[in-house]
Amino acid sequence: MSNDDWISRQSRKSLERLLPRMRAKLGPGDDALWETFEGRLNAHWDRLFRLLVQLYGWQYDFFFHLEQIMLMAVSAWGDRPDYLKAVDRDREENPQWFQSEQMTGGVLYVDLFSDKLAGLHEHIPYFKTLGLTYLHLMPLFAVPHGNNDGGYAVSDYRAINPDIGSIEELTALARILHNEGICLALDFVMNHTSDEHMWARQARAGNPDFQEYYLMFDDRGTVDQYQHHLRDIFPDIRRGSFTRDDQTGKWVWTTFNSFQWDLNYANPAVFRVMAEEMFFLANVGVQVLRLDAVAFIWKRMGTSCENLPEAHMLLQAFNALASIVAPSLLFKSEAIVHPDEVVRYIGKDECQLSYNPMLMALLWEALATRKVDLLTHAMRRRNRIDADCAWVNYLRCHDDIGWTFDDADALDLGIDPNGHRRFLNDFYTGNFPGSFATGMPFGYNPDTGDLRISGTLASLAGLEQALREKVPVLIEAAVQRINLLRSIMISAGGIPLIYIGDEWGMLNDYTYLSDPAKATDSRWVHRSRQRWQSRRDLTDPEALEWRFFNEIVKLIALRKQLPAMSNGAMEVIDTENPHLFGYIRAYGGQKLVIVNNFSEFLQTFPGAALNRAASDTRFIDRISGKPIPDGDNLVLGPYQFLWLECIPGSHS
Ligand code: GLC
Ligand code: GLC
Repeated sequence: MSNDDWISRQSRKSLERLLPRMRAKLGPGDDALWETFEGRLNAHWDRLFRLLVQLYGWQYDFFFHLEQIMLMAVSAWGDRPDYLKAVDRDREENPQWFQSEQMTGGVLYVDLFSDKLAGLHEHIPYFKTLGLTYLHLMPLFAVPHGNNDGGYAVSDYRAINPDIGSIEELTALARILHNEGICLALDFVMNHTSDEHMWARQARAGNPDFQEYYLMFDDRGTVDQYQHHLRDIFPDIRRGSFTRDDQTGKWVWTTFNSFQWDLNYANPAVFRVMAEEMFFLANVGVQVLRLDAVAFIWKRMGTSCENLPEAHMLLQAFNALASIVAPSLLFKSEAIVHPDEVVRYIGKDECQLSYNPMLMALLWEALATRKVDLLTHAMRRRNRIDADCAWVNYLRCHDDIGWTFDDADALDLGIDPNGHRRFLNDFYTGNFPGSFATGMPFGYNPDTGDLRISGTLASLAGLEQALREKVPVLIEAAVQRINLLRSIMISAGGIPLIYIGDEWGMLNDYTYLSDPAKATDSRWVHRSRQRWQSRRDLTDPEALEWRFFNEIVKLIALRKQLPAMSNGAMEVIDTENPHLFGYIRAYGGQKLVIVNNFSEFLQTFPGAALNRAASDTRFIDRISGKPIPDGDNLVLGPYQFLWLECIPGSHS
């Protein structure tokens, strides 16, 4: 019997054995509930089983764990609220719903934005003015006091930080948002818990079952063997990936901060309890889960312990389980790694959505150099993903910017990759002569010279410096740069995600430096409590905040009128001008040629290049509403962008 026949047979047999036990878990009157569950089980069981066998089949008690996982899944399904079951059905019928040109995301910290969860719904009109259909709330769970890595050290996945609100409030908010056409996105901080999580406390107290939830070692020798191949994520805070726990005397694997204990996914009990936490969130009404730090979730001696095949299998197993219990739930991967590794997390059966860190980083690269060759080259080679999935395009998020591009792409263009990264770091920390940027260094590693960048969109794009120097032309240039980047975020293939604050041009906030829990982490410079009292400034439409706000509202509204903006595909074109980044968006019978000038000077887009992108057509620039004269070279102003709609066949 071939291996495949064998596993198919085992898969069927296991399902037969488990079916009655699962059925019994639901009440006798729940026939309809069971039928739906069984239908989805039949559709996804085989892939789930194969993944779990690969991950855990070698353990003598595998079948026990399998049963526990499936019984948990049935209970989660039984608990799923009716309105979410209806969402499940809708999304199963229209699995491409998130590809719509209507999709626009926003992300914010509840405490910084509205203090409390309870007050957040009052801002729904604001979200709707912006056009948001997706709202990501940064982690708001129970965390240790003081430094908790901005909420990424979770002590309890089922309790909200009491300073912010309660689970009941979150559940109510999810529903209200849903009724308003906004889906709730939340983090699933799956790589680690805080050292105050109940599991960690049990482990500390010596409970061996819970010690197996984490990666704890008695001897420094083993730790050193692992350590040899690992990179430091926060090198300026702490060297090495292990922390000695005083109470047990053991070394604990802590990839990030010492209070963030990595979970041991080689233990099937960890898979089960985390899946249970995942379904808890799904049943609260979370529709998009941002899977945090996915690159790190599996470890193997002798490797970098990043992006291992088992990390993908784990995500696929979570995906298969979600397809059975909560099929409307989308996964968004947060893998800020080499572009080719980022792409590997994206798939209908793994993560349907992913951040697009390469586009983000290279937009900043092009802004600094005024040249688009690396951006164009890399986007042509490395941006393609499965048509069933979508990029989430962003300019800033709560984290630092790292210069993630492929070294070979740079070398192809005669650029020395590491020298270029050094230049970009100098540029964005304002240390390069003539730089417009005001950014802060993050994560400096003295061994490698690596550095990443913190700062808000507006400060990095030059507004802070220009305002400080009070030079109107510099202010204007900064405004144009900000608008240029936002226009690309909104028009590139995928879902735009606004880091709330960037819609009105928030600047860096240095107050974190006086808070000991934050002072050593420069990412707080762009995690700010500054708020824009939009109503108060209403009388002054010339205020910069209003210009930024009105511009982004206009662009998002325009996006929503253009069918070509749906579906993630984008074809990067050769503009024959090193300062112009161009691409085609085409869908639903509409075609747009989008051209962006990354320099502060006039730039020509040759008529011939435009013709190659789209021939036999007239063009209307949807940004200005003006037709483009036939056949001519186009001249773009400083940092200007054009969204050219092709009007077919009507050459006059
Ligand atoms: C992710 C988060 C980042 C956090 C890290 C550890 O990268 O985006 O903010 O520090 O995970 O949870
Ligand atoms: C990890 C995360 C990345 C983040 C960094 C810490 O590399 O994957 O998102 O930027 O840690 O800030």
